[in-house]
Amino acid sequence: MRKIVIAGNWKMFKTQAETQEFLQGFLPYLDESPEGREVILCPPFTDLSLLSQSLHGSLIHLGAQNVHWEEYAAYTGEISGPMLTEIGVRFVIVGHSERRQYFGETDATVNLRVRAAQRFGLTPILCVGETKQQRDAGEAESVITLQLDKGLLDIDQNNLVIAYEPIWAIGTGDTCEATEANRIISLIRSKLSNPNVSIQYGGSVKPNNIDEIMAQPEIDGVLVGGASLEPESFARIVNFQSV
Ligand code: 13P
Repeated sequence: MRKIVIAGNWKMFKTQAETQEFLQGFLPYLDESPEGREVILCPPFTDLSLLSQSLHGSLIHLGAQNVHWEEYAAYTGEISGPMLTEIGVRFVIVGHSERRQYFGETDATVNLRVRAAQRFGLTPILCVGETKQQRDAGEAESVITLQLDKGLLDIDQNNLVIAYEPIWAIGTGDTCEATEANRIISLIRSKLSNPNVSIQYGGSVKPNNIDEIMAQPEIDGVLVGGASLEPESFARIVNFQSV
């Protein structure tokens, strides 16, 4: 059975004080959440410990935004799997386009991180997606296929979430048409050996488009940036209405 997985990627936003304020506003909304929705918050590293204590007993899972492939080593600025699991982190975003674009992440390092996440007991959320230029050139399918081929090398598809995030839709308000996201996600699914992997859509997901996105048969959840920073908007997304 494919699970519904709704994740908030806070990127480089929120101090601990702001995180606490968010929680006060957000947690009461979860009382209204329908059963069977997996909710994940992926804050900056400095908020993880705080959240792990504050979320005890709540339905929210914790996710990190990156993980290194070594357990302990001289890699300034990196974080390892055991450091994350020790404080209750269960998920980790890997290969986000911002890491690929600004921090030199390649399909090979993404694959190392996905494998390490699994080795250390985390569930990776592997991000794939094309640029506007690649889409306009008719290359979206081939780019995504290559990212999957390389990113999923030697990994366990029983412990995996995939996020389709077209880069041109991230932070632009230019959401991918729900039917087009559904088509690409169906293509991604056809490349997997495990039919039960949950596949999310990400890119300008908002309260006013979530119901339409989640009505698509192939879309199992969303990875949300900007709209996950406000309690009301993220709650509306988590509590989407099936149409
Ligand atoms: P936005 O929802 O702000 O477009 O960001 C999407 C994203 O990058 C989630 O990982």
